[in-house]
Amino acid sequence: MRIVLVGPPGAGKGTQAAFLARNLSIPHISTGDLFRANISQGTELGKQAKAFMDAGNLVPDEVTIGMAKDRMEQADAENGFLLDGFPRNVAQAEALDRMLEAADMKLDAVLDLEVPEDEVVKRIAGRRICRNDSAHVFHVTYTPPKQDGVCDVCGGELYQRDDDSEETVRTRLEVYHTQTEPIIDHYRAQGLVVTIPALGKVNDVTDRAMAALRGEH
Ligand code: AP5
Ligand code: ZN
Repeated sequence: MRIVLVGPPGAGKGTQAAFLARNLSIPHISTGDLFRANISQGTELGKQAKAFMDAGNLVPDEVTIGMAKDRMEQADAENGFLLDGFPRNVAQAEALDRMLEAADMKLDAVLDLEVPEDEVVKRIAGRRICRNDSAHVFHVTYTPPKQDGVCDVCGGELYQRDDDSEETVRTRLEVYHTQTEPIIDHYRAQGLVVTIPALGKVNDVTDRAMAALRGEH
């Protein structure tokens, strides 16, 4: 299956993507995670991306589209993929359309995670991520680790993202409304959008998404 996950920052895209990708045996491709890995490895691409990310703005398309394309080719997109955080504006959606068309492939669904804004702010403020694996995500009140600051899965150190400050989150939300939301209409015109109410327990949201992918919506 070829799936795109959209939703505001903090909607739970990364959290859901980890479960959905495992259930469906497809690679989880997150452009945010790819940028953060490049930053921690000190690559040229990471250096280019960092200032944009820290300010809550989008990394320019020239950098992002090439990186996403490379990763999809590496993942052997033929077997499917779950895109998380890409595309993030209409130009990126059009670039993805062209990539898929050139490979004679189509998307199966675009899952739009719907969460009220006050909730996403709470989710981001409490988020803690493992230094060893970005799929190990916790929340200080909703899904707290057993030991403060320590990952339950691997014992790694938990940290808070640089772009999770209140001011940057405000910019990220604005960027989402102005630049990312228009891709929902782009995909609605292709009949691909399914809205998933994403409030409630993590596994209930996964169940809703899986039901939607089976066409039960
Ligand atoms: P990116 O990493 O994609 O961040 P984002 O879209 O802002 O989304 P988040 O990672 O903040 O949230 P999420 O929806 O994954 O939520 P999560 O599952 O962690 O992008 C970061 C930056 O990189 C961008 O600002 C941009 O600069 C750059 N970038 C990336 N892609 C780009 C692109 N294509 N083009 C240009 N620039 C790009 O959950 C949040 C918290 O809530 C966690 O603590 C979690 O435990 C908790 N939680 C999740 N679900 C639930 C639930 N059901 N109940 C209670 N708590 C929950
Ligand atoms: Zn861990």
